Amino acid sequence: MEVHILIEEIRQARKDCGWSQRFLAERIGCSAQVIKRLEAGIGSVETLVAVMDALEFRLTGVGPGMTLANQLREKRRKRGWSVAATATKTGLSPSTILNLERGGGSVASLVRLLGKLAPTARRRAPERAYWGEGDKADRDSRFTPPKFLEAIHEAFGEIDLDPCGHILSPVKAKRCFLLSEGDNGLTDKWSGRFAFVNPPFSQQQKWLRRAHEQWTAGHIETVVCLVPTRTDSEWFQEVLSKVAKVYLLKGRLRFADPRGQEQATPFSVMLVILGSTAPQRIRLQESVSGLWMI
Ligand SMILES: C[S@@+](CC[C@H](N)C(=O)[O-])C[C@H]1O[C@@H](n2cnc3c(N)ncnc32)[C@H](O)[C@@H]1O
Repeated sequence: MEVHILIEEIRQARKDCGWSQRFLAERIGCSAQVIKRLEAGIGSVETLVAVMDALEFRLTGVGPGMTLANQLREKRRKRGWSVAATATKTGLSPSTILNLERGGGSVASLVRLLGKLAPTARRRAPERAYWGEGDKADRDSRFTPPKFLEAIHEAFGEIDLDPCGHILSPVKAKRCFLLSEGDNGLTDKWSGRFAFVNPPFSQQQKWLRRAHEQWTAGHIETVVCLVPTRTDSEWFQEVLSKVAKVYLLKGRLRFADPRGQEQATPFSVMLVILGSTAPQRIRLQESVSGLWMI
């Protein structure tokens, strides 16, 4: 049986992590045999998705969406294909297609669907922080400069929530989610008026999606995310940029690491702002140099 490129890439991703089939199986709570079969293209989409999550394996070339099921549905809609037309093109039954769009089904039918619907679907290159060589262990714990925080405070008022806080960070929020306290900003519900988010840059996309999801759900009124300027993903262009105001900062910010040593980013950064008012944006541009992305 021919193994789809997606399955081959998943196998490669596991190897890149240095994980055996057994280790991956233990992480997601199945047997090594299940992983072996999956890597031969046999198994359920449910297991495949669990494996993709464990490997932080994301796809490009499918539609926008938080889950593979949503991405498939969005891609089909974007191409203007009805379920019946998709069934004719793929040789799958309409109920199989609907099942795949609900997160069910088999890997074999998924592969068949992708072959017609999204033939260019590939693994998205893993995100990296690019803080440079050495000291990679703490690259995700770089703190927002205090002067910059003052400008944020001036423009947006007091910070209600820092969903990715750190005990040593100068961010003074009414509420902080701290990994050290067992909190998790990616799963705990956000609340309050204003959240300031300087996330681990190696997981930028994940955090932007979380911010967008919590804001869309109405859990938080205004969210300001400070992240590297990466605007190339389909999701950014098709979804986030349509609702967010994006401010491209001029120059480089100097972030401090947990030992207090400062370093300017070797990449440009931007603010992705959800739910802001015109006066807030005017105040921001008065104290922070930058350019609005239109
Ligand atoms: C770039 S630092 C920013 C710290 C602080 N928010 C600031 O702006 O100075 C990102 C922090 O997110 C924390 N973090 C990573 N994953 C997290 C999670 N799932 N939930 C909460 N915090 C997380 C890390 O401990 C790290 O200190």
